[in-house]
Amino acid sequence: MATTDARKTTPADITAAAMASFESCTDPRLRQIMQSLVRHLHGFAAEVGLSEQEWREMIGVLTATGHITDERRQEFILWSDALGLSMLVDAMAHELPAGATESTVLGPFYVPGSPQRSYGESMVVESGAGVTAWVYGRVLDVSGAPIAGAELDVWQNGADMLYAVQRPEAEEDHLRGRYLTRDDGTYAFVAVRPVPYPIPDDGPVGHMLAATGRHPWRPAHIHMIVRASGYKTLTTHIFDATSEYLDSDTVFAVKPSLLRDFVERSADDPERPPAISRGSWVSLENDIVLAPGEDGHAVVDPGRTA
Ligand code: BEZ
Ligand code: FE
Repeated sequence: MATTDARKTTPADITAAAMASFESCTDPRLRQIMQSLVRHLHGFAAEVGLSEQEWREMIGVLTATGHITDERRQEFILWSDALGLSMLVDAMAHELPAGATESTVLGPFYVPGSPQRSYGESMVVESGAGVTAWVYGRVLDVSGAPIAGAELDVWQNGADMLYAVQRPEAEEDHLRGRYLTRDDGTYAFVAVRPVPYPIPDDGPVGHMLAATGRHPWRPAHIHMIVRASGYKTLTTHIFDATSEYLDSDTVFAVKPSLLRDFVERSADDPERPPAISRGSWVSLENDIVLAPGEDGHAVVDPGRTA
């Protein structure tokens, strides 16, 4: 028995053993990811001198994150958003040619299967949703040519700061819809002026924001996913250029190229579209430029574009 004079196991030995445990992984990408994860996780713990109490708290936070997550609430993605990871992955995935519209974070409130709506149709189903907005523009390729039959899958919040999916009693199709571009690449729809809102902050992410002195707010924006055959699918926002929180979006998703001006219009403005029946309104012009690529879907039902 020579236990007392045996060489002591150091932190570096532990890291090396954990790294080596993946040497026999036959999937090279999985091996790279797991070894890099161990290296950075151990490096993080060593750098901050992670205590046993802090380690227990960390496990508690992860456990609470699992408990609050269900089909309507994805707290893990919220962590990714609030730590800037979602935007980092997005930036690495979408290197775009000059002139193409920039992407930004998807967020947790996208629900597939929005109703297909015609050119200029309103997606405002409930009354009192906010200031009426006429949103219009063109979808173009990087040479400036119009893209016909592109689909804009749009969703946004209303004056109550909530998306329909956040309110169990809401009309399911309120403030969301899918629109197709016409032959000249134009699209238009009736929305409301979006308002700033806090990300869900009653769970572990909210506790982290409060504990670190960060606010939970996002600047006002409208979401869209734009799909067209032969082009890369674009997930992006239109931001209100006058909104609060543009400089401190809690999920780091603001890109200056995505800021747009809402123009205030009076009830008797001669450009008032027929779909807006009364009251003052705002208009927002927003052209979208898609990068060539393969993951867009062909749109096969242009029947409601007229
Ligand atoms: C959103 O814009 O809908 C959103 C994005 C990230 C986190 C929470 C909300
Ligand atoms: Fe949003």
